[in-house]
Amino acid sequence: MKRIITIIIMVGIAALPAMAAAAISGPCSACHTMHYSQDGTTPSGASGGPNNRLLLNTCIGCHTGTNSSPGSGNPPYVLDTSEPNYGTGLGTGTGTESSATTLAGGNFYWVADTGGNDDTTGHNVNGISGADANFSGDTIPGSTVSYDSWNSGNGLNCAGTYGCHGLRDTADNDNAMTGTHHGDATANRTADNYRFLEYDGVGIGSTTGDTTAIDGLEDPDWEFQPTTSAHNQYKGAVRSSDDISDYSTISAFCASCHGNFHNNGGTAGTGKGTAGTNTWDTDPWIRHPVDYEMAYSGEFQNYNGATSNSATYSLIAPVASSNVSSVLSTVTIGGGAGETIVMCLSCHRAHGTPFADMLRWDYSSGNCQAGTADSDCGCFICHTGKD
Ligand code: HEC
Ligand code: HEC
Ligand code: HEC
Ligand code: HEC
Ligand code: HEC
Repeated sequence: MKRIITIIIMVGIAALPAMAAAAISGPCSACHTMHYSQDGTTPSGASGGPNNRLLLNTCIGCHTGTNSSPGSGNPPYVLDTSEPNYGTGLGTGTGTESSATTLAGGNFYWVADTGGNDDTTGHNVNGISGADANFSGDTIPGSTVSYDSWNSGNGLNCAGTYGCHGLRDTADNDNAMTGTHHGDATANRTADNYRFLEYDGVGIGSTTGDTTAIDGLEDPDWEFQPTTSAHNQYKGAVRSSDDISDYSTISAFCASCHGNFHNNGGTAGTGKGTAGTNTWDTDPWIRHPVDYEMAYSGEFQNYNGATSNSATYSLIAPVASSNVSSVLSTVTIGGGAGETIVMCLSCHRAHGTPFADMLRWDYSSGNCQAGTADSDCGCFICHTGKD
């Protein structure tokens, strides 16, 4: 489900927008330069060029800044040059974050060489950060692919085979994105996908080879200062076996590089332990479950403070849903409703956070302690009996 559609619904019949409504708008000259020259010198606002597609700037250049009103023609800023406000209100689980300047993916500031420069806090993206020293000599976590040889040791790109956005079977960063910003699905099959994302296991050497569009309902301002009723609605799947059953989920997307952590079958890992029983959804797990619906039983009956099977959507430890046609401010716990599905982004953010392992909250020994309630520890939002 695309933002294009939400916008059409919101605008209703008033404007009868063309299908390009959700694409970028504005004068060509705000973003493009025909010769990368004006008055014999670099045009104002230009950087890093001459750039591909006659652009004034690069991906990172256009997407660097401080968010104040994203979504009104402004790009989503994913890298700040000074430390952004990660917010504190999210720690209340049901709170409205009114001061944060970060978006749904977090921010690359903390991993950036010119920012916090802490490799554990984000995906190390070429141009923002050098390769992640912690993975040198190792595999990409959750895969069998050597980190040092993948993308020639340069870490991740923004897009393409060695990145996350755009065409995953196209190696070149800029070619992978051609057509996306202008919303041209005939030029780029990811243009209508959730945040220009698709599943493709080829990037890490899988033989899957088929691409699948990632689904989801896009918050128009990328979760700038989200509330329980204004947030992304992430796609999840209620699985009944170890295999990825639905490749359009956000967790399947992450699994395109970190397959073992999704308990994927076949080459990507053995999934749950077989001690005791082979039944898929019976304990014990050997990796934390994802694309798995929490049951309305035990401690999960009180998910996010619920006193019935209807719970408030949590902004600190959010859940995915199998139906993403609307934004859910309350979710039905378990029962096959498909509204409380654990996903990778229940615990992580995709770009970066101030915390190790790109976790949404501080998981250090001081913050997530069994027996000690702490509203900033997201584990307790679901495991309500452990505090
Ligand atoms: C807000 C910024 C922005 C504005 C305004 C903009 N463009 Fe673009 N354009 C981009 C970006 C970013 C790309 C490269 C990535 C992509 O294709 O999504 C691009 C790519 C292109 C491409 C090559 C890819 C393709 O789809 O064919 C053409 C041609 C193009 N723009 C023409 C134009 C014209 C003509 C205008 C004015 C009528 C314009 N653009 C206005 C940002 C912009
Ligand atoms: C000329 C400036 C410019 C450049 C260069 C540029 N972007 Fe963007 N980008 C924008 C703007 C403006 C938007 C917001 C469009 C909108 O409102 O939907 C955007 C939106 C996005 C989005 C969010 C799409 C969504 O579904 O909400 C992604 C992802 C993205 N860009 C990635 C990239 C990548 C990767 C590159 C490099 C290949 C890139 N951008 C290059 C200006 C730029
Ligand atoms: C295109 C491949 C790719 C995709 C897709 C991908 N990752 Fe990663 N991820 C990597 C690589 C490579 C590393 C190791 C180096 C680094 O941290 O950048 C990594 C590292 C990580 C780390 C550890 C960070 C650290 O430095 O300790 C986490 C957590 C993570 N990824 C989570 C995710 C989540 C969640 C998603 C889905 C939103 C995802 N990844 C999607 C390639 C990918
Ligand atoms: C979005 C909800 C959610 C969050 C957040 C969450 N969990 Fe879980 N966790 C679950 C569900 C659902 C299960 C599966 C229970 C079952 O077997 O049905 C589970 C299972 C577990 C298990 C038991 C595995 C087994 O074999 O029974 C452990 C241990 C665990 N989680 C630890 C954590 C820790 C530590 C955190 C914080 C880093 C965390 N969880 C965050 C929902 C969550
Ligand atoms: C219940 C919370 C939770 C969920 C759900 C979760 N993670 Fe994690 N993840 C963690 C924690 C906590 C760590 C820190 C290391 C550990 O405890 O194993 C971590 C670490 C990682 C790492 C770094 C491993 C390393 O070797 O440094 C990667 C990569 C990662 N997660 C990816 C994923 C992906 C991909 C998914 C979804 C398929 C996912 N995570 C789902 C909590 C979670």
